[in-house]
Amino acid sequence: MSDLRVIHDPDQMRRASFAWRRAGETVGFVPTMGCLHEGHLSLVRLAGARSDHAVISIFVNPAQFGPQEDLARYPRDLEGDLAKAAEAGAELAYVPEAATVYPVGYQTRVSVPELAAPLCGASRPVHFGGVATVVTKLFNVVQPDVAVFGEKDYQQLQVVRRLVRDLELSVEIVGGATVREPDGVAMSSRNAYLSPEGRSQAVCLVGALRKAWQRFDAGERDVKVLVGAAREVISAQPAARIDYVEIRHADTLEPVDTIGDRAVMALAVFFGKTRLIDNTVLGGDRRP
Ligand code: PAF
Repeated sequence: MSDLRVIHDPDQMRRASFAWRRAGETVGFVPTMGCLHEGHLSLVRLAGARSDHAVISIFVNPAQFGPQEDLARYPRDLEGDLAKAAEAGAELAYVPEAATVYPVGYQTRVSVPELAAPLCGASRPVHFGGVATVVTKLFNVVQPDVAVFGEKDYQQLQVVRRLVRDLELSVEIVGGATVREPDGVAMSSRNAYLSPEGRSQAVCLVGALRKAWQRFDAGERDVKVLVGAAREVISAQPAARIDYVEIRHADTLEPVDTIGDRAVMALAVFFGKTRLIDNTVLGGDRRP
């Protein structure tokens, strides 16, 4: 467990990072919105393993919430988060205030429009613009050498990779494997909102991904067939309502009809008001 320094001020954060980098030491960064679970902590450990100093940010970013999405309801537990981050090896937590990140008069936005449009972007039109904007700002302040993002938020990871290339930012982006509960459900802060019925049926998301892998391993490459097989698994659960089940190009997220080497299967499913996401790269190295 490390001693965790907490910084709220961007200039102080920049100075801390600069001091490390001037000494020839590298900075690994994990941006979060808090409410940390084992999935986040695995990213902190990965950042620590890939750099000399692991930094975490905790900031519930208003710009990535739509008008229908309840920003005020987003769970917050700063004390608990700081203890967990320290335990996972973070040395510094950057915890800015919303008024510092978005002061009066703020108007600049970063947009990655093509990657942001499909999948989750279809029902959350402002979301990825808000993510791209805050991530760019956080990179400017934290000045990391390496930044780690969870593969569970696959579309977000592609958006961040693209903006780093497009804006020529000098940070290496690393994807951290999705961490799962013993029954296979991907860890998420949203799992806490599920009813007992929803929680037990939520295993259908990973079940659908595994079914697609089975068909893929058996040689199936037709996207309609693979999506159909996955949908069948989810539809068998009475509490599940499918938002989308899609297979797309793994990097560009463009639609594909058949899978060449690899493609991402991404899905979003509602249980009541709670929307869960999961994904796998069929033909990729990691299996759910
Ligand atoms: O994945 C998240 O928690 C957020 O989208 C991020 C990357 C911290 C930006 O607010």
